[in-house]
Amino acid sequence: MTGTALGAPAERREGRQKVAGAARYAAEYALPGRAHAWPVPAAIARGRVTGVDTSAALALPGVLAVLTPGDAPRLAEPEDPALAVLQSPHVPHRGWCVALAVADTPEAARAAARAVRVTYAGRPHDAGLTEDHRDAYEPDDVAGRAARVEYGDPEAAFATADVRVDTVYRVPPLHNHPMEPHASTAHWDGDRLTVYTSSQGGTTVRSVLAQLFDLPEERITVVAEHVGGGFGSKGTPRPDVVLAAMAARHTGRPVTLAYPRRQLPTVVGHRAPTVQRMRLGASADGRLTALLHEVTTYTCHVKGYVEHAAFVSRVMYATPALRSSHRVVPLDVPSPSWMRAPGEAPGMYALESAVDELADALRMDPVDLRIRNEPDREPESGKPFSSRHVVECLREGARRFGWAGRDPRPRSRPEGPLLIGTGVAAATYPVRVAPSTATAQALPDGGFVVRVNAADIGTGARTVLAQVAADALGVPLDRVRTEVGHSDLPPAPLAGDSCGTASWGWAVHDACAELAARLAGHTGPLPTEGIEVRADTTGKADADSPYARHAFGAHFAEVAVDTVTGETRVRRLLGVFAAGHILNARTARSQFVGAMAMGLGMALTEHSTLDRAFGDFTEADLAAYHVPAHADVPDIEAGWIDEDDPHLNPMGSKGIGEIGIVGTAAAIGNAVHHATGLRLRELPLTPDRVLTALLTGG
Ligand code: MOS
Repeated sequence: MTGTALGAPAERREGRQKVAGAARYAAEYALPGRAHAWPVPAAIARGRVTGVDTSAALALPGVLAVLTPGDAPRLAEPEDPALAVLQSPHVPHRGWCVALAVADTPEAARAAARAVRVTYAGRPHDAGLTEDHRDAYEPDDVAGRAARVEYGDPEAAFATADVRVDTVYRVPPLHNHPMEPHASTAHWDGDRLTVYTSSQGGTTVRSVLAQLFDLPEERITVVAEHVGGGFGSKGTPRPDVVLAAMAARHTGRPVTLAYPRRQLPTVVGHRAPTVQRMRLGASADGRLTALLHEVTTYTCHVKGYVEHAAFVSRVMYATPALRSSHRVVPLDVPSPSWMRAPGEAPGMYALESAVDELADALRMDPVDLRIRNEPDREPESGKPFSSRHVVECLREGARRFGWAGRDPRPRSRPEGPLLIGTGVAAATYPVRVAPSTATAQALPDGGFVVRVNAADIGTGARTVLAQVAADALGVPLDRVRTEVGHSDLPPAPLAGDSCGTASWGWAVHDACAELAARLAGHTGPLPTEGIEVRADTTGKADADSPYARHAFGAHFAEVAVDTVTGETRVRRLLGVFAAGHILNARTARSQFVGAMAMGLGMALTEHSTLDRAFGDFTEADLAAYHVPAHADVPDIEAGWIDEDDPHLNPMGSKGIGEIGIVGTAAAIGNAVHHATGLRLRELPLTPDRVLTALLTGG
């Protein structure tokens, strides 16, 4: 590495625009003549639409059209069946779009949507997840991997273990709820389509629209310049962009569809609930002899999705006998999908809570127990780790947190009506990287432009890509400009799976390294158009690695539990991570701290309740679905160990977008146990549950 830009705490380049309100989001493109669309959600959980009476809606002022399954523009059959909106009268879940009102203003569109009368032929539905459901099955495939990994003889090893923990943990449905709702503005110019959309990956939006509307990609422009968060729910296109394009084609006007908050829970995905049976067996000296992690979750009838919560048990600990398995129950529920650290977040809640219970049973320090069970190689594959510094994270975290000298006895720290406790949990998230393209251009004025259709979803992608470029070019950071978020730019993978920076950065690095080499051989002034180099990391970035590559970390939490109200407040939260080279100390810290705050929400307040009678969630706004607000978030500190790992990418970085939420809820739950002596095995740890447990002794 030549420059000094990489790793520096560079400020977000669009920060000023954002705080000044000048950054434009998808719904804010007020094109001339723009109309607004408002979806009508299905009021039944299963069945079909028998009629849509639009007469009252169409009679309202300012209403342009109401699209129905009978008359909406026809689409080619999508790869993602959730995008086949208004194509048939079939209703696969409550909240499914059954009509779309279009009007001059959002208010008129909303009034029209309410005036649409829909009749249905409903059929009995099933929205109840139970472990012994008769339709439960083991899927062939879970996120591209085996549903079950098993070695040794886990049942027998568990049965004969010196010390055993046998528990069930439950994580409820959780919703992404980004601040910016899913929104799109679409505009047709003849057979050219332009969309401004809130997405984690504009390249995919373009290819999906091309397929649905049977258009060559060159006739579609997708702009996603600023995105107000996604947390996985904007990883692939959602119905807003398809509906907006249909409405714009139908009315001949530009159309914006910004999902109302109350409709988001059913249409954009959620984290599926998990029931996780954990069985841990150990010898008396604290070595695991059996680890069984059995997950039951649900999927919907629209498309297959399995929350891969048991994967973490294939990575974390050395054990001679393992079962890591998933069973899934298909239900008449809204489609679950990715939510920040899909699989790993709920999975590590269960695993790291169970490890804490085992430490208790063994009367061992939970940090020491984890260290004692460090594997030499990745348990599942037998591959060596490219780097694995979880022990260092635990030790450094313990040092910074002041773990030494902790009295391990529960209820040992009363403070008036409060009970104080501390807890620890480890974290892990896989390292992935996807092929990308990028260009780097040297301009005659000495400046450089780097172009890649990356999505900056609030992470600081623009900024860190400029750092990668400046470093590879060996020039000061302020000489480099970055262009992202537009489909005219070189195609790139999504901002997801914690691999955006690694994937785009690799292509940016390669383009800049080659450009630097060309410039070194160039004499005289540059031509007016400058010199441009294009890089494509296909074949490189997707090559198999002989190494198991994961990021690791450790969380430490201190809580105060109020014995009068049952309220748990987190007083301190510390995360220490090992994620390769940290490319921007400021934005990285923001990623870690933000994800830890989300983990705090998962632990204490966030939950969606699937109402079995309606097949829908009872929490449908930010009042009922409580994400942590400022008053909930205490002193959160995130730090890291700078890892030198040569087996990753040219920047030596691992992803950091998701690991911060992995394990956080376990650390907090373990702290609540230390404070109170109570094991609450179902999230979130709301005051009613804690108080009930305090009053009944568990
Ligand atoms: Mo992330 S849930 O892969 O956007």
